[in-house]
Amino acid sequence: MADYPEVLGLQTRSLREPVVEAEGIAMAFGTNTLFRDVTFQVERGEVFVILGGSGCGKSTLLKLLIGLYQPTAGQSRILGQNLQASTGRKRQALLAKLGVMWQSGALFGSMTLLENIMLPLEEHTTLPPQAREEVARVKLGLVGLSDAADRLPGEISGGMAKRAGIARAMALDPPVLFLDEPSAGLDPITSAGLDQLIKDLARDLGTTFVVVTHELQSILAIGDRCIMLDKEAKGMIAEGDPRELRDHATHPTVRAFFRREAI
Ligand SMILES: Nc1ncnc2c1ncn2[C@@H]1O[C@H](COP(=O)(O)OP(=O)(O)O)[C@@H](O)[C@H]1O
Ligand SMILES: [Mg+2]
Repeated sequence: MADYPEVLGLQTRSLREPVVEAEGIAMAFGTNTLFRDVTFQVERGEVFVILGGSGCGKSTLLKLLIGLYQPTAGQSRILGQNLQASTGRKRQALLAKLGVMWQSGALFGSMTLLENIMLPLEEHTTLPPQAREEVARVKLGLVGLSDAADRLPGEISGGMAKRAGIARAMALDPPVLFLDEPSAGLDPITSAGLDQLIKDLARDLGTTFVVVTHELQSILAIGDRCIMLDKEAKGMIAEGDPRELRDHATHPTVRAFFRREAI
């Protein structure tokens, strides 16, 4: 059950307290080491981008951060708490504070958008049905889908489905949202709209975003800071403001990525 006073307490934590922390994280599947020494901090209200080529471990890092995988070394914390070390109710309470949207969006096809967004409220709160509906309508409004509340996922566009996925991830007012390639498969205009939505939510609600993407335009549009992972280097090859990396990076792979050059 969501504990509302506690949620409010977390929202008003010190502004400088990191929301997500990774400390020397390494991950291997068997003998295949994906990365090591991944260290960074994400501050409240930041849009933090994880970028890198296909297969470098971006989705895996996201899964580590939300506690789906155990790192082979290092640790991560969300809102100051070590998710990997938490168990039982403490772990459940912490997980309820994360919003996650996977690449596929994964809405239930037989339920309307409104019902999809009410679902987490039904599972994690004691709100009565009418209040659940009100909250869900507010979330749909935030992502510009008020008029589509009664539509089924099969009846809306890809961009609307991504927005609905974000609305559902936000159902429980999580202080931090994790998005895995939110603009994958979207046309450039829809993708720009989604970028704007992420920026607005971060600015207006103080929501912290950790976004995996390799779309350069998105990274430059939304990223306050980023890290770049690299398959060959098996770790981070860049960290910082994406615009500064574009203008000043000296690492050949980082330069090539930000300037769209072949190496
Ligand atoms: N569950 C898993 N078991 C074994 N290997 C995996 C697993 N998940 C990912 N991998 C390996 O890790 C690599 C990176 O995967 P992923 O994190 O999905 O990369 P990215 O999201 O950057 O494209 C994959 O190429 C695959 O070899
Ligand atoms: Mg991926």
